[in-house]
Amino acid sequence: MTIVLIKGARPYGEGDPVDVLVEDGVITDIGSIDTPDNAEVIEAGGQVLLPGFVDLHTHLREPGREDTETIATGSAAAALGGYTAVFAMANTDPVADNAVIVDHVWRRGQEAGLVDVHPVGAVTVGLKGEKLAELGTMAKSEAKVKVFSDDGLCVADPLLMRRALEYSTALGVVIAQHAEEPRLTVGAQAHEGEQAARLGYTGWPASAEESIVARDCLLAEHANARLHVCHVSTSGTADILKWAKERGTKVSAEVTPHHLLLTDERLSTYDPVNKVNPPLRTESDAVKLRSALAEGVIDCVATDHAPHAVQDKDCEWNSARPGMLGLQTALSIVIETMVRTGLLDWRGVARVMSERPAEIGNLTDHGRPIEVGEPANLALVDPETEWTVRGAEFASIAANTPYEGMRLPGVVTATLLRGRITAREGKITQ
Ligand code: NCD
Ligand code: ZN
Ligand code: ZN
Repeated sequence: MTIVLIKGARPYGEGDPVDVLVEDGVITDIGSIDTPDNAEVIEAGGQVLLPGFVDLHTHLREPGREDTETIATGSAAAALGGYTAVFAMANTDPVADNAVIVDHVWRRGQEAGLVDVHPVGAVTVGLKGEKLAELGTMAKSEAKVKVFSDDGLCVADPLLMRRALEYSTALGVVIAQHAEEPRLTVGAQAHEGEQAARLGYTGWPASAEESIVARDCLLAEHANARLHVCHVSTSGTADILKWAKERGTKVSAEVTPHHLLLTDERLSTYDPVNKVNPPLRTESDAVKLRSALAEGVIDCVATDHAPHAVQDKDCEWNSARPGMLGLQTALSIVIETMVRTGLLDWRGVARVMSERPAEIGNLTDHGRPIEVGEPANLALVDPETEWTVRGAEFASIAANTPYEGMRLPGVVTATLLRGRITAREGKITQ
């Protein structure tokens, strides 16, 4: 039997420190506990104990671009970031649009054994937006696909989107939309606004996102289906979500750490590390996204971890690929933007980083309360200590972090997956 005793931790940052006993993957006691023989002891020293984080939106580049990230390296980055489950997007090469690929991704994740890697299935064959993929086959495969998305691309055809939503209800899965009306973003390089205009970049207007979100909320409402909106980036989208939720539409949404912290002020650096899709918006958008997350209008934080090779980032802006790393910095950015500002307490962090994403992704064994009888998927956090971001030191193969050199608060000191310590003091433990 594997026994771990976490001594002196504060679940949800509340109350006096307690000991948490984990036996065979399950929390079996909470209180003042004598150390059992052969227990592995974690001295928590009053640190914050949270349910392990769940990322609804990760890009692991396997299969196809293992030079930038593999399922194993991405899993390591996730475990170090406090995650116990991640959803791996379908825009790999080949695309995860069939049972063979999704089962392969699922099994590789289990082999790596650091986080549960749930493959996202593509909505359309080859992400081409023309024909629905076999959602049912993927949902019933070994990987039991629970989330479908063409992320990277928008399911722009309203009839296809309507059909996908209708099928999703019957299958008990959710469609996650990358909301970008492609006709409005041809050649787009940066947020359409003053900064882009001054620097001569083709603009990516807020309306390209908002028009799809409004449309999809209506489609979901009429189909009585569940819709999830990926990487919300504009203040207008938050307003639409609020309106739709008030009407009873079954819509959920995520925001990335980078859209909570960074703005298009970064364009003046000309550094493509800041190029991302959807683009960094304005300060007022970021402020609105923070309050929408605090209020629950936006349900959760998702990283949109997007590793890219040096040659795809270290080039002129227009030819650089969009995307930035996120798994090992997400918690720190959430602390910086949401906890230090008083917008969220640790219960709130547990909600947006773990509980809500687990619910949206239909996971029953993650995002659970820290209570006796619950699975021991946990993250132990030292909230005060600051650290300096160094992309080269991440477990990811790629190093494209927009936070390079920044001092950030919050260190994940231990991560447990089903009672097994996967990361400890910044190192993978197996
Ligand atoms: C993502 C990628 O690199 O796959 N890039 C990004 O800028 N976010 C695709 C996506 O999430 O749309
Ligand atoms: Zn996307
Ligand atoms: Zn993405």
